[in-house]
Amino acid sequence: MAIRVCVFDAYGTLFDVAAAARMAADEPGRDALKAVWTGLAENWRRKQLEYSWLRAVTGDYVPFWEVTKDGLDWAMEAAGLDDPELRERMLALYWELAAYREVPVMLAQLKAAGQQTAILSNGSKDMLDGAVDSARIGEYLDAVLSVEDVGVFKPDARVYDMVGTRFGCARDEVLFVSSNGWDAASASSYGFRTVWVNRAGAPMDRLMANPAHVLADLTTIPELI
Ligand code: LAC
Repeated sequence: MAIRVCVFDAYGTLFDVAAAARMAADEPGRDALKAVWTGLAENWRRKQLEYSWLRAVTGDYVPFWEVTKDGLDWAMEAAGLDDPELRERMLALYWELAAYREVPVMLAQLKAAGQQTAILSNGSKDMLDGAVDSARIGEYLDAVLSVEDVGVFKPDARVYDMVGTRFGCARDEVLFVSSNGWDAASASSYGFRTVWVNRAGAPMDRLMANPAHVLADLTTIPELI
């Protein structure tokens, strides 16, 4: 079957999640953060995801913004940072995360080739709209699908079902692209064709299924279609 829809995870895949801590650390007067920002960014992301998985398992859904704040609070405490102004600054920066450099051209190429494109993300609708606007990629996207509509986080199958519901396509007509190994594995197991974007050269996750493709970045996605 030909690919009809290219669906992208948002955080870590299109948008650089480390950018909020990195940009705050670059600001004047942030010496305490400068010393710890890489570890803080990693812990923030790890806790945000762990909380999303646990809440998916227990059924205690809250908007992704809540687990994003909870993850940051854990990471700041672990780093010994007690600074409400800094917390507000990093949270504000999360709404305008930079897209990876290759994203606009790659999406424009997919649209020029007649593909439908979408984001499928744990992110709340307003968070995703903020990031899409600030990266100026809205014109290349047919849909921004948020788990908010099903009230559960990835990798619950109800999230992946949103693609077929929106586009009326079969699972194997979808190319799903994620930088999260667990998301790519779960989407493969669900029946999507998948790409794992492995920027860090991490080992493959040992999960239900392996992604069909592994790429170092998003540049060559249009060539897969
Ligand atoms: C998302 C998270 C998993 O955008 O990165 O869904």
